[in-house]
Amino acid sequence: MLSLAGANRDPRKFDNPNEFRLDRRNSHDHIAFGRGLHTCAGAPLARMEGQVTLNRLLDRMDDIRISEGRHGATDDRSFVYEPTFLLRGLVDLHIEFERILK
Ligand code: HEM
Repeated sequence: MLSLAGANRDPRKFDNPNEFRLDRRNSHDHIAFGRGLHTCAGAPLARMEGQVTLNRLLDRMDDIRISEGRHGATDDRSFVYEPTFLLRGLVDLHIEFERILK
């Protein structure tokens, strides 16, 4: 059985795969939406929704940070993942931020 989450974190394909890096040259090689005959039919919609959502949030929020109270200090984070090996998804992510007043 293929683990999409595992493939997306394969160090033979992606350098330092656990690092969040927006500048990866091969970011389009990830397979979060599958690949081939059964590629996710909703991928363009999901990408658009993600883009709009993030832009709307970033318009309104500043100094966004992970909640230390809920997830621990920077060097001692703790997250809970959905109990599936197919995809890698957090059960929840608690953040703190400053509100941008317009
Ligand atoms: C972040 C959001 C999403 C992710 C990560 C995701 C991921 C996936 C994955 C991994 C597959 C399986 C590909 C395979 O079998 O190899 C799939 C299939 C599919 N997805 Fe998504 N999906 C997302 C959102 C959506 C949305 C919003 C829609 C519809 C509006 C959608 C519709 C479908 C359909 C119809 C299939 C079956 C395609 C087929 O078997 O031919 N997905 N998706």
